[in-house]
Amino acid sequence: MPDTAPPRPALLRGMHHTGYVTQDSQATVDFYTKVVGLDYVCAVIDDKVPSTGDPYPYMHLFFMMADGSTLAFFESIGLPPPAKSTHPGYDFFTHLALNAETRAEVDRWAAHLRACGVDFIGPIDHGIIYSLYFYDPNQIRLEVTCTTDDGWTKHGAQALEDLAGWEAAKARDREAGTGSQAVQEWIASRRKWHHQVGH
Ligand SMILES: [Fe+2]
Repeated sequence: MPDTAPPRPALLRGMHHTGYVTQDSQATVDFYTKVVGLDYVCAVIDDKVPSTGDPYPYMHLFFMMADGSTLAFFESIGLPPPAKSTHPGYDFFTHLALNAETRAEVDRWAAHLRACGVDFIGPIDHGIIYSLYFYDPNQIRLEVTCTTDDGWTKHGAQALEDLAGWEAAKARDREAGTGSQAVQEWIASRRKWHHQVGH
């Protein structure tokens, strides 16, 4: 039987744009041009959403970075403020990390944000990357980071093992009704291994 599967698309080239909601286009333009220093390169306006047809008038803003990728925001009339997170983890785990060239550049960002009066955390040395964190006016958590270990994306086999270990520990907790005890024990044993291999 002939293989009729269509050819697999090539590996995607990178980020084209993100899409977030803003309640204040002017504040977003001010922040991303003056504080983050991006170029405000395009605005799209319409009285309905092209992909769904929903009649929500909106403005769509794009800010460009050095590699041509963009951050995008929508402001639409009549949207209430977003619902509060159900757990603080959502407010710091969910984030957008942007590339800086070097550690010195990340340090420069710290000085720049301080001068702009923007609160931030860091820089923090994660071993493979060096990062600082702050929030934009839309409560989107931003990270400015640089890679400090070029080999950090070459651990796919270990990542698969870790995924299996994580899922197995979760299942043990679920079956025994032990909350996150098995997960925490697995993390502790995994951390020991991590240190032994010198990461
Ligand atoms: Fe991150």
